[in-house]
Amino acid sequence: MKSIFKPGVFTLCLIPFFIITYKIFLNKLGPEPVKEITHFTGEWTLIFICITLSMSPLKRFTNFTFWIKIRRMLGLFVFFYATLHLLTYVVIDYRLDWSQIIDDVVKKKFIFIGFAAWLLLIPLVLTSSQKMIIALKHNWKRLHKLIYIIAIFGSLHFIWLSKTIYFKPLIYLIIIIFLLILRINFKRIISKTR
Ligand code: HEM
Repeated sequence: MKSIFKPGVFTLCLIPFFIITYKIFLNKLGPEPVKEITHFTGEWTLIFICITLSMSPLKRFTNFTFWIKIRRMLGLFVFFYATLHLLTYVVIDYRLDWSQIIDDVVKKKFIFIGFAAWLLLIPLVLTSSQKMIIALKHNWKRLHKLIYIIAIFGSLHFIWLSKTIYFKPLIYLIIIIFLLILRINFKRIISKTR
């Protein structure tokens, strides 16, 4: 039973990818196909950030180690969807026009912070293996706290790009702040102040 958990979660995580691939190949993206792919992959990146951040609180509340076992895979899916999102922008939208892309990164704050979030994901991916966890010891935990900054950057990116409707991006920011608060070890803080 246990052996089907991870492949099962892996398959579930690929569903958004299959949906967008299906829409691309069957021409079901609507009048603005590039925008649709950018929005779809961007939103799924944020959803996977929220799911990944929920794993530790779920472990704490349910006492099942299962959540921690799938956390690394979920984190890698954050990078997978963020990279699809970035590639849509760089390859499909801007057709590798680097001067225009650099101009956007420097001048548009929502692109700048989105790009910063994607860059910060790289060290997390490179150090996600068991080997790196052992090699980096307690520094691994410190480094992986970057996911909090990435989460905040990702939601700010969404807030700043939304010109009028703030409702959805604000909901994500509230969920992220709530998940971050849940991860604070209040017991440790109280015992330190005593
Ligand atoms: C962790 C990194 C990132 C996250 C979580 C993220 C998330 C999002 C979200 C949620 C949206 C809006 C989706 C919607 O409207 O439903 C979006 C849109 C967008 N993102 Fe990102 N993004 C990230 C990185 C990037 C990067 C690296 C770039 C490019 C350098 C980028 C460029 C864009 C663009 C151009 C849009 C569409 C803007 C528009 O509607 O005009 N994003 N992103």
